[in-house]
Amino acid sequence: MSNDAALFPRNFHKDFPVAVRGEGCWLFSGDGRKYLDAAGSAAVVNIGHGVLEIGRAMAEQSAQLAFAHTSQFHSAPAEKLAAHLLDLAPPNFKNGGRVYFTSGGSEATETAIKLVRQYHIEKGQPARYRVLSRRQSYHGSTLGAMTVSGNVARRAPYQPLLAEWGHIAPCFCQHCPFEKTFPQCRLACADDLENVLQATDSSTAAAFIFEPVVGATLGAAVPPEGYVARIAEICRRRGMLLIADEVMTGIGRTGTPFAVQHWGVEPDLILTGKGIASGYAPLGAVLVAPNVIEAFENGNGAFKHGFTYQAHPVATAAGNAVLDYIESHNLFARVARAAETLRAALAPLQAHRHVGEIRGLGLLRGIEFVRDKSTLTPFDASQAIAEKIRSAAMEEGVLTYPTQGCVDGTRGDHILLAPPFIITPEESALIAAALTSALAKVFPD
Ligand SMILES: Cc1ncc(COP(=O)(O)O)c(C=O)c1O
Repeated sequence: MSNDAALFPRNFHKDFPVAVRGEGCWLFSGDGRKYLDAAGSAAVVNIGHGVLEIGRAMAEQSAQLAFAHTSQFHSAPAEKLAAHLLDLAPPNFKNGGRVYFTSGGSEATETAIKLVRQYHIEKGQPARYRVLSRRQSYHGSTLGAMTVSGNVARRAPYQPLLAEWGHIAPCFCQHCPFEKTFPQCRLACADDLENVLQATDSSTAAAFIFEPVVGATLGAAVPPEGYVARIAEICRRRGMLLIADEVMTGIGRTGTPFAVQHWGVEPDLILTGKGIASGYAPLGAVLVAPNVIEAFENGNGAFKHGFTYQAHPVATAAGNAVLDYIESHNLFARVARAAETLRAALAPLQAHRHVGEIRGLGLLRGIEFVRDKSTLTPFDASQAIAEKIRSAAMEEGVLTYPTQGCVDGTRGDHILLAPPFIITPEESALIAAALTSALAKVFPD
């Protein structure tokens, strides 16, 4: 890295090409190379790069009104986007739901943690404060979000700064923490919520937060039928709120506007981010169901929380333009078709001796690499297999999202694929071809 650079990098030991242009599923760098953005730049870019009308809508909004502080004003684009999101949400969000806009996913998680805390105070249950969550999960990088996260590597340096509110077992059939198989397991991983509540002071439990499909940490791990419903039932019975973290899965990524809609479950809060503005603006949101809103309306009235840039007019104008684009190009429906094409293109990779599983839902797919396929034994973490695959695929011109730790927090290598919804069959074939070459390069024998 050149020492005249001014930008604080994500990694001082790595060289980063400079991205100068984006178009469709492609990113172009200043050194004349082009890359197929098979990860949607971390499951962000839903509609593709370089869609001119999004930039136009943002420019028009900023010319008309760039900013007005939310302590004094609301704005038309924020109001419009909130209504649109509630329309797309599960039925319980209709008739009185509200949306709190943030500048990204971590802020959405922070907002949810504080919101459920104040909800219980308003309801006369001030003892409730703990937001339970799962091991092997990710809810954001701020300290509250890290507290509920269960991603071992991302938490490790900050452990002394984090509270412990209770982490239950992950839901991950490929490496079941109970070494059971569905359906004989009878959803032991969901019942772990009940076990942890019984083992701790359940009168302090405020909410449970989970990713309906675990993204970065487990590489698109989809729960078995009945899991989400069992979790929701335990929360209801225990007087806890249910928070679905759909920062990665929301806004159509899995084929429905929100992933919980695959199972007909109605959370009290839904968090979203990433694809909501498809990378055109920093934006996140907390969708809040009417039962929670009522507690604020009938109580103190003021949520003791706030960000200067919440509900930003230009960011929400980007969100409106993105949602309009998704609907006018019928992209929600396109996800299932494009996902099937991508799944079929990737299927031959499953035969590779080091590919343990190809999994996922919609256009959120994970490929796990194993040392021994018969036992699903992972590679040693020091071999950095996921990073090597990412690097080899990038040399082939395809961008992926690598992570380690899916098996036990340290070992287990996978990459995530989350391409824009506009991906073509030819581009799916290019992804498969690049990964075939990357596998050959990383595992030459
Ligand atoms: C499920 C989930 N929640 C929260 C976050 C945090 O979002 P952000 O990076 O926008 O703060 C992420 C980011 O990867 C995520 O995948």
